[in-house]
Amino acid sequence: MPEYKLKINGEVKTVNTDADTPLLWVLRDELGLTGTKFGCGKGLCGSCTVLINDEAERSCSVEVSKLQDKEILTIEGLARDREHPIFKSWIEFEASQCGYCQPGQIMTVLSLFNKHGKPSDADIETALTGVLCRCGTYPRIKKAVDQLFENRG
Ligand code: FES
Ligand code: FES
Repeated sequence: MPEYKLKINGEVKTVNTDADTPLLWVLRDELGLTGTKFGCGKGLCGSCTVLINDEAERSCSVEVSKLQDKEILTIEGLARDREHPIFKSWIEFEASQCGYCQPGQIMTVLSLFNKHGKPSDADIETALTGVLCRCGTYPRIKKAVDQLFENRG
């Protein structure tokens, strides 16, 4: 099997796998980064969202062979910064219920946070509805996101 060197959470990781293996499988099964969740496996639910070159992408739908020279950030990489304002907002508004969708929600919001001074409500709604939450915590997530951007000014 071919060898790939992937830059994940600031470190280079070497994996041997088929070219069309989805990134999600590499993260979870090869590298033990199980914070990124499997939901549908078809690019529909958003639970597997990570950042690739700062864009929110569904890792179940990205083949490993397309990731050379790209920067991948997972929830584990973000969690190294416990003081990141996104975590503070999430905790303050108790945005998480069962937690399964939350890595995908957080990485999706992080992409907006890294990109925009202040996204519109429409941008936020569009981003959030793309990640399915079976617990229906959208109102609390919205409050957390609103505070996140308000505090940044
Ligand atoms: S598991 Fe990737 S979008 Fe659902
Ligand atoms: S918090 Fe349970 S699925 Fe979203």
